[in-house]
Amino acid sequence: MTRVFILAGPPASGKGTQCEKLVEQYGFVHISTGDLLRAQQKTNPSLAEYMNSGALVPDEMVISVVAERLGRADVATKGALLDGFPRTLAQAQELATKVKVTSFISLEVADEVVVARISGRRSDPETGKVYHMQFKPPPAEIVDRLITRGDDTEEKIKVRLGNFHKNNSSLQTFYASKLCQVECGADSTPEGVYERVQAEVERLQSKM
Ligand code: AP5
Repeated sequence: MTRVFILAGPPASGKGTQCEKLVEQYGFVHISTGDLLRAQQKTNPSLAEYMNSGALVPDEMVISVVAERLGRADVATKGALLDGFPRTLAQAQELATKVKVTSFISLEVADEVVVARISGRRSDPETGKVYHMQFKPPPAEIVDRLITRGDDTEEKIKVRLGNFHKNNSSLQTFYASKLCQVECGADSTPEGVYERVQAEVERLQSKM
């Protein structure tokens, strides 16, 4: 059976950071809707409008991007890590028609922690790697080329957090039988969070 893990949580809760570690250890196919949609912005400028304002992209657009990626052969053999999808009940219901979800791992991070993480986040346009100026400092020689994402501003994070809170409880209810909540306080390191995420993956891998 195909393994499909969902990594959920508010913006900048560390979904991408945890997925990077899981891919390295288990070889899952990482399906980040944020990354997939950013890659399509040049050919579909309306995506940039939604994303730069912090708004959610309409369900039908996101679903078609994810469905295409899920349909490729590597997902069946390696399993998939869904990062940032589903974000609405309609997306979850649509996903249920395509695959059986193994676990919905929710990173529970308070709003004020999210804001601190966003303000220090930087991305490397050459490698795609994500750093944090305080919590995951980049090597000195690449600092000058790092960029800050256009939606990582105080104003847009309010919109993104609002979207998250509007949808989160209905998603957690939908996935109640597969829900694994990982509490991540302000002092949770990426490694400490990973120990708990990995324990959930191991628990379910041993059953499959
Ligand atoms: P997306 O790119 O998915 O943005 P997001 O959900 O806001 O999440 P982020 O990528 O910002 O953060 P993350 O949780 O991966 O955290 P990270 O690991 O980087 O989506 C962007 C936009 O695309 C959306 O706003 C929407 O418009 C659209 N979109 C995407 N999916 C959609 C969908 N399904 N439906 C509709 N629209 C959709 O970590 C953050 C920072 O903290 C980093 O600097 C990292 O180094 C640091 N860090 C991580 N963990 C820790 C830790 N434990 N302690 C300290 N620092 C840490």
